[in-house]
Amino acid sequence: MSDDIEIIKISDFIGAEIRNCDLTRQTPEMHAALRRALAEHAVIVIRDQNISPAHHAELSLGFGVPQNRVDPATAIHGFPFMNGVSKNEDEFANIGNAWHIDQTYQADPPTTTLLVAREIPERGGDTLFSSMAAAYDALSDGLKATLDRLDAVHSNERVVARNVRLQGRTVLPPATHPVVIRNPITGRKSLYVTAGYTQRFDGWTEAESEPLLKFLFQHGQRPEFQCRVKWNPGAIAIFDNSQVWHYALNDYQGRRRYMERVTVKSFSIADSRATPDDALAPSTEDA
Ligand code: SIN
Repeated sequence: MSDDIEIIKISDFIGAEIRNCDLTRQTPEMHAALRRALAEHAVIVIRDQNISPAHHAELSLGFGVPQNRVDPATAIHGFPFMNGVSKNEDEFANIGNAWHIDQTYQADPPTTTLLVAREIPERGGDTLFSSMAAAYDALSDGLKATLDRLDAVHSNERVVARNVRLQGRTVLPPATHPVVIRNPITGRKSLYVTAGYTQRFDGWTEAESEPLLKFLFQHGQRPEFQCRVKWNPGAIAIFDNSQVWHYALNDYQGRRRYMERVTVKSFSIADSRATPDDALAPSTEDA
């Protein structure tokens, strides 16, 4: 049997299942193949893995530098960069129940998320992903050229104020990021704005920004940009947190769901700006 991983696309625009991959026997070559698959497909799912938190940590290090900002209450013992994402039988709100990119409010945000399914309800609790590269490609050349030149201001202020699961979290100073970034491996452009955290375009008021941001937040939810991941225990999804939005469905009331998550910085969002000069360059969709 070849050591090469097998890649099976989930949908035309986003997502792939990876076969022939045993994460209890990781190698630098396997990590490199998975990094390429992630850049290409933005979400990769590897099922039926009997992996320990140590394997999860090893895999995460293959993708970048782990973020140490985990909630101390949910950090997994021995791994200060790993946290549990849980919803118990008696809880109503889950984490991530709106389209979002993780932590864009940080000055130097994480670009890859590695999520391991540990306990999954017998039905429900799927996660949706939407490709912001496909969303960008579908815009007019005129709007692309405008967005390529813009930065946006992000903050966790509103999300902390309204999410009961985040009470007590620190509100960080606002962070400014490019609105359009380029993936450093494929060169493909994607939108880097997210409802909840993106408050306004830099140099614009919130009132001026709102109509265009509202359009982008709706545009990015088009079903054809999406894939849906159904979980089973031992499945791991690695997603490119720079070029996808994700949405954790909350359709499993009365049942427990428990995931373990690491976010890593694989590259710098600030260094990935799409320059105005390439605003009308040919699409790199097939890269
Ligand atoms: C999250 O938003 O990071 C949680 C995703 C999930 O639990 O499916």
